[in-house]
Amino acid sequence: GLSNTKEMFAKANKEGYAVPAFNFNNMEQLQGIIEACVEEGSPVILQVSTGARKYIGKEMLPWLAKAATAYVEASGSDIPVALHLDHGPNFAEAKDCIEYGFSSVMYDGSHHPYDANVAEAKQVADFAHQHDVTVEAELGVLAGIEDDVVAAEHVYTQPDEVEDFVSKTGVDSLAIAIGTSHGAHKFKPGDDPKLRLDILAEIEKRIPGFPIVLHGSSAVPKQFVEMINQYGGKIADAIGIPDSELRKAAKSAVAKINVDTDGRLAFTAGIREVFAKKPGEFDPRKYVGPAKDYMKEYYKDKIRNVFGSNGA
Ligand code: G3H
Ligand code: 13P
Ligand code: NA
Ligand code: ZN
Repeated sequence: GLSNTKEMFAKANKEGYAVPAFNFNNMEQLQGIIEACVEEGSPVILQVSTGARKYIGKEMLPWLAKAATAYVEASGSDIPVALHLDHGPNFAEAKDCIEYGFSSVMYDGSHHPYDANVAEAKQVADFAHQHDVTVEAELGVLAGIEDDVVAAEHVYTQPDEVEDFVSKTGVDSLAIAIGTSHGAHKFKPGDDPKLRLDILAEIEKRIPGFPIVLHGSSAVPKQFVEMINQYGGKIADAIGIPDSELRKAAKSAVAKINVDTDGRLAFTAGIREVFAKKPGEFDPRKYVGPAKDYMKEYYKDKIRNVFGSNGA
């Protein structure tokens, strides 16, 4: 069955790695993720946005997650698997997910005033904990797009707020803003693509050992962007977070790192390649299958070389 994130995060922070949180929208992305994590022996957080939940359908989604844990068990693997709501907009959505069997939820009140964020995060945590579900909340605002909210600038998390926030809300993990952002355009050409690891270190001092989460952490691999563009796509100036920065974060109190865009790029590159090389192909298995395999191989590599969660 599904696990919440409590033990996953405790173990990750004790041993100095980060648990991958991979978003999915369909069966093949889920297959790519779960196969990669089983083969690497990595714990995994299966993550769905509100939009993904609408796309899959809230009745079908819990069964997809059950199918994933059945696959894990049938493989003889014992990796823990969480089903997590990404960027939950309010208490109602979090409660609905919990009632549909999610093992973990995010309440994202980062764009609200501090006190409103505290109050609703606490409401979510109180309800979730009655159901053995863990809760992630967020302080600071990522630049770029977060669901429907668009922020022009980074609003870095203020280390002075984190201790008060986690003690008042009772949440189990905290997402912070230290220079990551969602999507494929995280820096401008010529920028130094660095995270504010100094702010992370300050935060760690205020809440030692508390599980920290990084959103917007795709690396935006050149090979997939180039494949997409080579086979008829058009994605300009795509820049992600360097693996070297993510590696440092994974060794710290960062216990969960979110990746969605990289999987989307791998998947799209795979489909475009088949369409370009075999224009007569119209069996979905023949183009979605290779797309899944690109995503899977990329995630396996990422788990081994960046998250460090393999064999955990
Ligand atoms: O944080 C956002 C995730 O990448 C999901 O995005 O709302 O397009 O599903 P989405
Ligand atoms: P990326 O867009 O960098 O993959 O971030 C995903 C994310 O933070 C999901 O919540
Ligand atoms: Na860590
Ligand atoms: Zn996010």
